[in-house]
Amino acid sequence: MNKNSEEMKALYEKSPYPQVLNAIQMQTVPMLIHWINAAVAPNGIALHPQATILSAGCGSGDEVFLLAKQFPEARITGLDFSATAIRIAREKAVALQLKNVVFETVDLTDDAWVSKDQRFDFIACHGVADFVDAPQKLLSNLSNCLSENGVLCITVNSPHHPAARIQAAYAQLWGRSNTAFEDSESHRKGLEMITQLMGQTVGIEGIEKAPKAYLDVDIFPPFAQHLAATTWIEYARQVKLNFAGTLDGPVALSQLEDKVMNLLYHFDRPSFSKWVLALQNKPGTQLLFCKHTPAKICFNSSQISDWMPKLQPILGQLPLMNCDPLEPRPVRLRFAGMPDLVLNTRAYDLEVLRRCDGQNMLKDIIKSIGVEQSQTNLWTQLFRAYQYGLIS
Ligand SMILES: C[S@@+](CC[C@H](N)C(=O)[O-])C[C@H]1O[C@@H](n2cnc3c(N)ncnc32)[C@H](O)[C@@H]1O
Repeated sequence: MNKNSEEMKALYEKSPYPQVLNAIQMQTVPMLIHWINAAVAPNGIALHPQATILSAGCGSGDEVFLLAKQFPEARITGLDFSATAIRIAREKAVALQLKNVVFETVDLTDDAWVSKDQRFDFIACHGVADFVDAPQKLLSNLSNCLSENGVLCITVNSPHHPAARIQAAYAQLWGRSNTAFEDSESHRKGLEMITQLMGQTVGIEGIEKAPKAYLDVDIFPPFAQHLAATTWIEYARQVKLNFAGTLDGPVALSQLEDKVMNLLYHFDRPSFSKWVLALQNKPGTQLLFCKHTPAKICFNSSQISDWMPKLQPILGQLPLMNCDPLEPRPVRLRFAGMPDLVLNTRAYDLEVLRRCDGQNMLKDIIKSIGVEQSQTNLWTQLFRAYQYGLIS
């Protein structure tokens, strides 16, 4: 292990994550679970009741416990190189009487832990890759233990993460560069002033009140990557992981009016996600990868009518068209902690979606309804539904 990794490891040994920050984002968000599964459609789902799951860089195990609650029959492994974090995780697992979780102390960049016989359907790796100085080795190990239809969900900071700017400003304010946060009243006031001066773009609220351990590892770490999403996507491609998209894509889409949607028809889910990430300059994102190439649906007139769309069960039973085909029938998709995603459909468009069972081509579905409608409107609904992962 080199000096950077040793220093990071020492910080996590001293203050195991996520005690330093009570913010587990992903498993509380059903939309993300749906989206993760949609990314591997139609080859089966990654997050299912009996899935084998890995939390890579699990800290003291909160993510594992959330997953164990949500999937009580799944087999869940938590790996981390902080022995302190793993000891706490094991103690918690005993206290919670969980039998389906195991924790091991391993360095994720060392391939000794990757077993030929152990494959995971779902791997979550949040807040780890940025602080590893051999990220390609980490990705290669994760790829080698991902099952054929599995999904890797990795949370990374972007070059727009405020940490680097805060570090530089802090160093100028105190006349020297810092790699650890000096916890005093004046330094916290200085931090508050810096974030106020940075304005609304900071992305981290109330950072001046954050625990020292969080500031030490996430804002003033001895080492951090903060690479562009496209670099992570390229690293992943080199180890045979295909980019499948981010949740930023569908969320951005929910803000758009139908009239502009046809400008986006050429985007599949991965390329639309990349485009949105580049536009939004967010401090970080969750990237999804899988081993097979995600299906590319092309929304051009010559190809779309030969598509055999399949509706995902999440939408439930859609109502029959027993009214004026033009009647508005918005479908509001509600997910905890997310903005609503709205399909502004009409009765006719819903009837088409209702018949998308993967058995018939779109042109046959349209013929079977026997009512003439504008194709442009229908394509807009199909495009939205496809980007949301509602149809594949
Ligand atoms: C920022 S914390 C994130 C913890 C957890 N994934 C979460 O989202 O709350 C990063 C974790 O990754 C672990 N970690 C960092 N580099 C590692 C490596 N090379 N091998 C194993 N664990 C590592 C740290 O010990 C720490 O627990």
